[in-house]
Amino acid sequence: MKTICCIGAGYVGGPTMAMIARQCPDCRVVVTDIDEKRIAAWAAGHPPIYEPGLAELVRVSLNRNLFFSTDIARGIAEAQIVFVSVNTPTKTFGQGAGRASDLQYYEKAARQILEHAQADMIVVEKSTLPVRTAEAMDSILKSGRKDVRFEVLSNPEFLAEGTAIQDLEHPDRVLIGGHETPAGREAQQALVEIYARWVPRDRILTTNIWSSELSKLVANAFLAQRISSINSISALCEATGADVEEISRAIGMDSRIGPKFLRASVGFGGSCFKKDILNLVYLAESYGLREVADFWNRVVAMNDYQENRFVRAIVTRMFNTVAGKRIAVFGFAFKADTGDTRESPAIRVCRELAAERAHVVVSDPFALDNARIELADLGAAVAYEPDPYAAARGAHAIAVLTDWRDYRALDYPRIFAGMEKPAFLFDGRNCLDHRALFDLGFNVFPIGKRFYSHL
Ligand SMILES: NC(=O)c1ccc[n+]([C@@H]2O[C@H](COP(=O)([O-])OP(=O)(O)OC[C@H]3O[C@@H](n4cnc5c(N)ncnc54)[C@H](O)[C@@H]3O)[C@@H](O)[C@H]2O)c1
Repeated sequence: MKTICCIGAGYVGGPTMAMIARQCPDCRVVVTDIDEKRIAAWAAGHPPIYEPGLAELVRVSLNRNLFFSTDIARGIAEAQIVFVSVNTPTKTFGQGAGRASDLQYYEKAARQILEHAQADMIVVEKSTLPVRTAEAMDSILKSGRKDVRFEVLSNPEFLAEGTAIQDLEHPDRVLIGGHETPAGREAQQALVEIYARWVPRDRILTTNIWSSELSKLVANAFLAQRISSINSISALCEATGADVEEISRAIGMDSRIGPKFLRASVGFGGSCFKKDILNLVYLAESYGLREVADFWNRVVAMNDYQENRFVRAIVTRMFNTVAGKRIAVFGFAFKADTGDTRESPAIRVCRELAAERAHVVVSDPFALDNARIELADLGAAVAYEPDPYAAARGAHAIAVLTDWRDYRALDYPRIFAGMEKPAFLFDGRNCLDHRALFDLGFNVFPIGKRFYSHL
């Protein structure tokens, strides 16, 4: 029986390995992590992250051919294939701070593999990494040991949080980069055979290893670029009376453009978009490609502008002061169907509102624990309330920051009745019925669309 080990039991490692375990019942899959609490939660069948369908998927294989452990050494020693799915956040110190990837966790994993491997092994880069990182992995793995042969592959993950299980089950494509040598091609083929259990072969792409590494950064950069592009147009719509949704529809029907990722909003978030673009910018700079770096940097700058514009609109519309006013924030997760709050626009919006001395009350169905951690330093300036009705009671304004489906079905007449007047609603996701809310008495301010005001 083949044993697969994964180092890193996070948003990528956990769900990906649960899918492999289900699709390959003849493989033993061991997911390891240094975080004991995370491993205990996975092992108990209660994943430490919220993702629709994940708990059910894990329970199918748990303790049958899917195991979670903090014994990383043993996990590596018993495996023929090791996936490395550790975090690669933006560096906060030293050279490249604020842009380059912090590769310390990744390198540590490489050294653990070198130390504990017992036999020839395929090492799969699952984490998102700067192009040519496999070279560093190769160099570490080739240092000091002649008894074991390692073959490094790049297999970036394209899942999106909120739809991870669907994305893993029916991926648009699986990308496997390898060295262009007989051993590299053999390793690539071994990984192809695993995915081919459930992914059609024409969706499994094999490329050279550098293309694979770079494709992941480029995919995220292109996706984020579409959001920043439409967000830039949303500002122009507000200035001219055009409607950004009508524009998205009109341009999205052009088959060359396509309809996805054209929704204007308060901005993109998540652990990957900003980090991966900044990494691309840093790479371009380090190869002396200043114009390329500047081009992609603007995508992040536009996102900052959009978040900033949203807060400015709240303050301006509310008579230039929110001091002492209760503002209910509906949604703190960076998108619906996840509890993940990393880089969520809600972080900045709440911080800036608190800086304006507003009393911020955050509501979210799955992200309040993470919200408390993100905003811990703000203390009593922010309150946390799972029930949106309670959050809005006595509020001067509601700011919708996550497009949770539940928010569309709330009893808004009841909410309006309990609010201070005039009652404001700022829809940062354009997910509510603005006209109907206006008819109830709200002053409604969406993104890139006409606003409705009784004032
Ligand atoms: N989150 C996403 O949607 C997503 C999608 C595609 C790709 N990625 C990429 O996948 C990688 C992982 O992302 P994530 O969101 O799963 O991160 P995460 O922070 O949720 O999980 C990473 C885990 O690795 C563990 N870890 C770190 N060093 C370790 C070590 N030496 N030994 C054992 N465990 C270790 C951490 O404790 C943590 O639990 C990143 O490179 C990210 O860019 C993420």
